[in-house]
Amino acid sequence: MEQSHIVKESIEKKGLEQLVILGAGYDTRAYRIEGLRKLKIFEVDHPDTQSTKMERLKKAFGSLPDHVVFVSTDFETETLGQRLLNSGFDKSKKTLFIMEGLVMYLPPESIDDTLFFIVKNSGKGSTILFDYYPESVVDGTCELELGKNIRKFMIQQGEPLKFGIKEGMVETFLAERGFSRVQNVTAEEYKKMYFHGVNKDREVCSLLAFTHATIE
Ligand SMILES: C[S@@+](CC[C@H](N)C(=O)[O-])C[C@H]1O[C@@H](n2cnc3c(N)ncnc32)[C@H](O)[C@@H]1O
Repeated sequence: MEQSHIVKESIEKKGLEQLVILGAGYDTRAYRIEGLRKLKIFEVDHPDTQSTKMERLKKAFGSLPDHVVFVSTDFETETLGQRLLNSGFDKSKKTLFIMEGLVMYLPPESIDDTLFFIVKNSGKGSTILFDYYPESVVDGTCELELGKNIRKFMIQQGEPLKFGIKEGMVETFLAERGFSRVQNVTAEEYKKMYFHGVNKDREVCSLLAFTHATIE
């Protein structure tokens, strides 16, 4: 997914000081977006995924880039907070937390732990950015064929979906956890906003929604 405009805007207009990419996978923003080299970036991921990425980065660049700190964590068995604080995360800084392609794979209690940590340990004006499925896709009550198929496919893959947000409830969900200024974008809106020119035929799953919210 291309949410890099929020990253760029956060650097250029909103004084972003720190970037944390949770469930970073093979995200390459840290290495390709101008302006990010001057920030401290934390890539947090499952040890299995992260070790493979680190090997590939070493091959590509000769060594690991200095501006990125790699934090290996299993969100299901460890709490993000201590790992991040022990790795040099500065809780007074204005931070953007990206959780892309992540929350749907985590149990609700891990998401609550993570959001709780973020709210309690981030500088004023810090934000979160994530994509999610409606709860009905996750609990099997979605009546759309696509929703049923996604759920079934992920079960077959051995990565069942674990978390979704009730349709129309993202603002309440986030407000209850301490976030405000919630901006929610549907897949259709997202496509209209960003998929132009060479990207015009790119696919985005029509059931995904994308949310940006602030800690004031
Ligand atoms: C679908 S990939 C998304 C990767 C990347 N954010 C992107 O959008 O391309 C899911 C990522 O979440 C990570 N992940 C899933 N479950 C996790 C867990 N329990 N603890 C830590 N990371 C996890 C995986 O290692 C993987 O990097």
